[in-house]
Amino acid sequence: MNCDALILAAGLGTRMKSKTPKVLHPLGGIPMLMWSIDAARQATGRPPYVVVGPERSLLEDSIPKDIHLVNQIDRLGTGDAVMQAAQELQDKSQLVLVLYADMPLLTAGTLRAVIKMQRRNAGPLTILTATTSQPRGFGRILRNESGAIEGIIEEAHASEEQMTIKELNVGIYCFSAEWLWGHLSQLPLSPKGEYYLTDMVQLAVEEGNQVAWTEVEDEDEIIGVNNRHHLAEAQAALQRRVNRKWMLSGVSITDSASVYIGPHVNIGIDTTILPNTHLQGATTIGEDCVVGPNTIIRDTTIGDRCEILMSVVREAILEDDVDIGPFAHLRRGAHLQRGVHMGNFGEVKESVLGPGVKMGHFSYIGDTTIGENSNIGAGTVTCNYDGKKKNKTIIGEQVFIGSATMLVAPIQLGDGSRTGAGSVVTRDVADHTLVAGVPARAIRKLEQRD
Ligand code: UD1
Ligand code: CA
Repeated sequence: MNCDALILAAGLGTRMKSKTPKVLHPLGGIPMLMWSIDAARQATGRPPYVVVGPERSLLEDSIPKDIHLVNQIDRLGTGDAVMQAAQELQDKSQLVLVLYADMPLLTAGTLRAVIKMQRRNAGPLTILTATTSQPRGFGRILRNESGAIEGIIEEAHASEEQMTIKELNVGIYCFSAEWLWGHLSQLPLSPKGEYYLTDMVQLAVEEGNQVAWTEVEDEDEIIGVNNRHHLAEAQAALQRRVNRKWMLSGVSITDSASVYIGPHVNIGIDTTILPNTHLQGATTIGEDCVVGPNTIIRDTTIGDRCEILMSVVREAILEDDVDIGPFAHLRRGAHLQRGVHMGNFGEVKESVLGPGVKMGHFSYIGDTTIGENSNIGAGTVTCNYDGKKKNKTIIGEQVFIGSATMLVAPIQLGDGSRTGAGSVVTRDVADHTLVAGVPARAIRKLEQRD
């Protein structure tokens, strides 16, 4: 039985008090809506449908292109939102899974359990419930004396007695498609002037059907986001979940509450992540590394046995046995090959530092390649920008750059060359030659080391 998922995301989200639509607020480094999209896609094996309001264009830019969008013009409630998808979805599948975009922590496994239950169910729908003492403003599940589900009552309309019910409506429903599309138009208008999807339960019961249910096990999954306080609560729960997964996979995290690991990150075993570290985007870290504390890494690939101490790293590649920091800044296109050492207050952009290069203190390297085992003295700067364009610097192997050297690009320094402290190098330097001064001039040829 095929199942399509329909995610409702057209609500106003007024309680967020924000210019940004609620479902685009970031959670775990990606828009909140992406969590529902990914879980729904995993559970059904197909791209889900998303019901959106007038913010359609904003949403379109933030989600994958294969997601089908459905417009809801007047926001007349969750039942009305589903009605908007009737035309598109009617003949596509035998089952329809409906979920709300503000429940980002529901897992694909939980969604699958609801679908599975409905596959075996002779009745028209299965709902997901949770039993907890924290009512969260959710609708309550009404049952008769024999325990069968009779309906869902919204908190706003519940009697005092109904308010004490501990079984809640999570907001996940799997319908027989034929029954859903045939009965939606019978939804009554609620006292609030909305069409509540929850009233489908009562419709089914009135027709003499049994409503099936499954219960969610992990309470963290049902954190719904209606305001920014809930968003922080969801963030903390997500972080606990993600970090637990990494710890159980062999990664040490010394202070889970301050470590933020995005959904597209990979980490090898025996790596340690120290406090206040943010791993974002498509980042891969190898084995036996130590990362942090106080480090941000984004869209970067890091090999084995690396140490990243109090640094900011973006769109970079670090091969095995590299160590950087404290206070290193790697920017787009920084490629540190095997065994590079980069100490404090260095910045590297669009440059390749060859194996074993050492750059200990206060340097800027941009648009440069540096050959194997060269040494970049304290305070070296590649002057790569002439006010109009970026120019390249090429430094050979076994080069020794003296402290506070300015390399005015475009420029090339041959293998085994050296510069004196404080040189301003404006002309290319031949292999095995020492230059010094301002502007730097050749002093003598150097003996060749092997
Ligand atoms: C809803 C349920 C409630 C459940 C709770 C769990 C209804 C009537 N109530 O209440 O039983 O316990 O979720 O999270 O369904 N939306 C639209 N169009 C609309 C209105 C809402 O797309 O016209 C979307 C919203 O963007 C949101 C979702 O539907 O993602 C749920 O709407 P919301 O207003 O948050 O419902 P709750 O009051 O939380
Ligand atoms: Ca809600």
